[in-house]
Amino acid sequence: MANLFVNTARKGAVINRNIYGHFSEHLGRCIYNGFFVGENSSIPNVNGMRTDIVEALRNIRIPVLRWPGGCFADEYHWKDGIGPKETRKRMVNTNWGGVVEDNSFGTHEFMELCRQLGCEPYITGNVGSGTVQEMSEWVEYMTFDGVSPMAELRRKNGREEPWKLTYFGVGNENWGCGGNMRPEFYADQFRRYATYVRNYGDNKIYKIACGPNVEDYEWTDKFMALAGQYCNAISLHYYTRIDAHDWSKKGSATGFPEKEYWSTIVSALWMEELISNHLEIMRRHDPERHVDLVVDEWGTWFDVEPGTNPGFLYQQNSMRDAVTAAITLNIFNRHADSVTMANIAQTINVLQAMVLTDGEKMLLTPTYHVFDLYKDHQDANLLESYTETREVGDEESRVPNLHESASVDSEGRIHITVANTSLSGGEPLAVHVPGREGAKASARTLAGVMDAHNTFEQPDAVKPVPLDVQWKDGSLCLTLPACSVTAITIE
Ligand code: AHR
Repeated sequence: MANLFVNTARKGAVINRNIYGHFSEHLGRCIYNGFFVGENSSIPNVNGMRTDIVEALRNIRIPVLRWPGGCFADEYHWKDGIGPKETRKRMVNTNWGGVVEDNSFGTHEFMELCRQLGCEPYITGNVGSGTVQEMSEWVEYMTFDGVSPMAELRRKNGREEPWKLTYFGVGNENWGCGGNMRPEFYADQFRRYATYVRNYGDNKIYKIACGPNVEDYEWTDKFMALAGQYCNAISLHYYTRIDAHDWSKKGSATGFPEKEYWSTIVSALWMEELISNHLEIMRRHDPERHVDLVVDEWGTWFDVEPGTNPGFLYQQNSMRDAVTAAITLNIFNRHADSVTMANIAQTINVLQAMVLTDGEKMLLTPTYHVFDLYKDHQDANLLESYTETREVGDEESRVPNLHESASVDSEGRIHITVANTSLSGGEPLAVHVPGREGAKASARTLAGVMDAHNTFEQPDAVKPVPLDVQWKDGSLCLTLPACSVTAITIE
């Protein structure tokens, strides 16, 4: 029997709801033929946005959506995506498949999508190939309420009121696809570009700088030393893979061997070390903790589905992805005092998606269901938790069998989420919650063999089901299925 202890006596930091954020790039079928089907589509839509997708994401309380990239952001010129659609420029999407980008989804469409989703927009500006003026004018276009050339242009394009925009990224991966810059050069660029990202009226921008690639600690150190005082947060990008150190080996998203399951779990757990190490460097430069950490790209990255465009990054999504997401979200929750946002890549049809579509059909992935199981952590206070556990895995990859986080919401309900990484046998678990013994409790679990997944033929093969819980001798007892993610609620 495993034990899980929750310290109910002391509330920790608030888990920022934005940790449950998402990312949508002009990549493959994320925007076009994903979120956006156009007003004339036979697929039910409101102003071109797919109704079934909007409903599904509202259900998991999507808090924030990042757009337009990714690598696409540093080649995107926002003025190409406003005004009458017939006159919008057609361009090549050089990063992703070389397909034609007709700019029919631009700023107004993105803001409309966020309105329908009920989430906050997070926009990334172009540092790599754009100008300071272009970035500055985009912010003016979106947020200025008075008389100005950009505010007039917005009105001419049918939007009288400015939008509320809080989150703005000053470039993306500027150490790579965003310009191959050195940290010293980017730090200076950031200082310059960010100066002209203005606060107009009541709109206050939270400026997010391009942070490190995985374990590039030098980037964090140099950026923080040279420009940390000018930003609100820096971003970290890290993708979970079968071998975190070798991009040439990605492996299949389904039908993979156990060895790749275990190595993927090891790769997911590495997020803890990455966050802790980057935060330690950040705090050396910023002991008063003015700068937050935003993990604005994370998720699994496997081979594309056979027969699909390699530039579209379309992959299936299995219980391995669910366990990976559960571990990663637990790690973010546990760092609630410093990690203020995270954006899984990417919402629809790309990498570790919530939703896959095939024409008018759509399915919810196991990862979607994890976000559903975890949604009550949003805005709740972290509680200390601890699991007495054992190691599982194979000879090369040893991992804890259980991984958890806990919180208490504003109504006093306790939420515990726990991943069981084991591949065989149920795990009897006793949950110890001092002061809550005997309270009304319930649980839901998502479980299956490691590559269990939903298909368009069987869209509900993997979905959460209720799990029996029982108070015994002061602890809440349940049996976690093998390869599962479980959410426990104690009233
Ligand atoms: O999410 C796919 C790509 O991964 C993004 O465009 C880029 O920022 C990252 O390298």
